[in-house]
Amino acid sequence: MGFWSSSLCFMILILAFNQSQGTSAARHLGNETDLLAILDFKDKISQDPNGVLSSWNNSQHHCQWQGVSCDGKHQRVSGLNLLGQDLFGYVSSHIGNLTFLKFINLRHNRFYGEIPQEVGQLTRLRYLKLTNNSFGGEIPVNLSHCIQLKVIDALLNRLGGIPFELDSLKNLEGLSFGKNNLTGEIPRSFGNLTSLRQIYLSYNNLKGPIPQELGQLTSLYSIGVDANYFLPSSIYNISTLAGISASSNILQGNLPANMGLTLPNIQDFLLGGNQIEGTIPVSLANASLLEQLELSDNMLKGQVPTNFGNLHNLQWLGIGGNILGSNSAGDLDFIASLSNSSNLQSLLFRGNNFGGKLPAFKWNSSNMLDQLDLGLNQILGEVPLWLRDLNNLYYLATDNNFFSVPIPNILGKFQMLQE
Ligand SMILES: *[C@@H]1O[C@H](CO)[C@@H](O)[C@H](O)[C@H]1NC(C)=O
Ligand SMILES: *[C@@H]1O[C@H](CO)[C@@H](O)[C@H](O)[C@H]1NC(C)=O
Ligand SMILES: *[C@@H]1O[C@H](CO)[C@@H](O)[C@H](O)[C@H]1NC(C)=O
Ligand SMILES: *[C@@H]1O[C@H](CO)[C@@H](O)[C@H](O)[C@H]1NC(C)=O
Ligand SMILES: *[C@@H]1O[C@H](CO)[C@@H](O)[C@H](O)[C@H]1NC(C)=O
Ligand SMILES: *[C@@H]1O[C@H](CO)[C@@H](O)[C@H](O)[C@H]1NC(C)=O
Ligand SMILES: *[C@@H]1O[C@H](CO)[C@@H](O)[C@H](O)[C@H]1NC(C)=O
Ligand SMILES: *[C@@H]1O[C@H](CO)[C@@H](O)[C@H](O)[C@H]1NC(C)=O
Ligand SMILES: *[C@@H]1O[C@H](CO)[C@@H](O)[C@H](O)[C@H]1NC(C)=O
Ligand SMILES: *[C@@H]1O[C@H](CO)[C@@H](O)[C@H](O)[C@H]1NC(C)=O
Ligand SMILES: *[C@@H]1O[C@H](CO)[C@@H](O)[C@H](O)[C@H]1NC(C)=O
Repeated sequence: MGFWSSSLCFMILILAFNQSQGTSAARHLGNETDLLAILDFKDKISQDPNGVLSSWNNSQHHCQWQGVSCDGKHQRVSGLNLLGQDLFGYVSSHIGNLTFLKFINLRHNRFYGEIPQEVGQLTRLRYLKLTNNSFGGEIPVNLSHCIQLKVIDALLNRLGGIPFELDSLKNLEGLSFGKNNLTGEIPRSFGNLTSLRQIYLSYNNLKGPIPQELGQLTSLYSIGVDANYFLPSSIYNISTLAGISASSNILQGNLPANMGLTLPNIQDFLLGGNQIEGTIPVSLANASLLEQLELSDNMLKGQVPTNFGNLHNLQWLGIGGNILGSNSAGDLDFIASLSNSSNLQSLLFRGNNFGGKLPAFKWNSSNMLDQLDLGLNQILGEVPLWLRDLNNLYYLATDNNFFSVPIPNILGKFQMLQE
């Protein structure tokens, strides 16, 4: 799961805050605006089980309070880091008075209610991290005034509509509203957010199509739009993309024949559970960084290319639940072509139209294959002895084929799945 987990790390990036070291606190004691705002912020938090806010008292300047950082020069509050404190409450509208704020990190708490429109007054804000709370209502339109914003990370909330005005955030590199309650369409104008590197909008109620304009995002590194809608064809022209995750959409049509050439950096291509037709492009073998190819549960036909052995990083090949093969000899030649793919761990082609016999060949002794599912096909003949060479195999399914000898008689060592 190489690429995708590292991309989540990006979203989960935790900022190190410079705790200012108190010496000048006394001199600037009493920027009343910040103090009043921050006290009101505290006031709206009704549960603080870890007692993190108990240090927010008169005994120290507010720049010394836990989770508060100030900017050295002006002694103005520049960061609020209350990550994972289990705080329960809502965000005070006074937050808009903390006009020197650059970082807000409230991830993994229990904040509810709307994100106040007053955040639009935070024109220095660069990082807004709200993942895993219960923020609801609409995403505030005034967030569009925070033109320094680099990252909005609001995964796992209950936010609604997505305002087109956010197209003003020209410095935005990461945008995540995944696992919210977004409805409507992705605004076309988001094609103008040309600094974007990651966009994650999976698991919402968005309707398609995704605008072709997103094809203008030439710095994009990953896009996640699972469980929503269509993917625009222009996405295949973004050569920087390393991850495309668009499973369980209603994506139709063919995969572009040259996609392996137009996406030379692709590592994870996850389009399972759509309605994709046509064949698996042979050009994918040119996408030499490919690690995970997941095309299960579509309507793909024809033969599986026999040149994927070139993909030295390939770990996952999931093509089950299609109509691949022609129920004849040669259908399974692609397996032999993978014999030197020493990083391949999962080879899953259950539920297709593969016929003929399994090819005779020798697996490279350094193979890593640990899952092999070839059930529910039309495969004939004997089970090849090469199954014994798969030393890492822990999951094997061969059921619902036409093998001449029951598999368990040949291979005692495996836990069989025979349905
Ligand atoms: C305190 O805040 C006020 C209002 O934002 C601002 O005008 C002033 O410059 C600040 N003073 C200091 C010392 O930071
Ligand atoms: C006030 O904050 C200090 C730390 O800054 C803490 O040691 C003290 O216990 C707090 N007082 C109260 C009454 O919570
Ligand atoms: C701070 O913000 C609130 C709400 O936006 C406002 O009512 C208040 O007057 C502002 N100023 C000060 C000094 O607290
Ligand atoms: C969300 O935050 C809570 C703490 O408030 C934590 O227990 C939970 O594991 C987090 N969920 C996720 C998916 O990170
Ligand atoms: C929101 O932005 C508009 C200008 O677009 C401004 O008039 C309004 O006062 C802002 N609202 C808040 C609460 O800051
Ligand atoms: C999600 O949005 C729909 C339609 O706007 C609304 O009916 C529903 O209550 C929302 N769900 C949550 C959990 O906010
Ligand atoms: C993108 O920005 C350009 C230039 O500012 C503008 O002409 C165009 O209408 C914008 N596109 C969309 C879809 O908003
Ligand atoms: C992709 O790029 C090719 C070559 O530049 C171009 O012909 C094609 O129209 C583009 N496709 C889309 C959907 O933008
Ligand atoms: C794509 O790979 C094939 C071999 O599989 C090779 O002949 C061809 O030159 C490659 N094309 C590009 C553009 O790299
Ligand atoms: C695997 O590697 C061996 C040794 O380099 C080579 O002889 C064989 O042709 C390769 N097999 C495939 C399918 O690439
Ligand atoms: C096994 O695969 C590796 C890398 O794919 C290759 O370098 C090596 O020659 C292969 N070994 C054999 C015995 O085929």
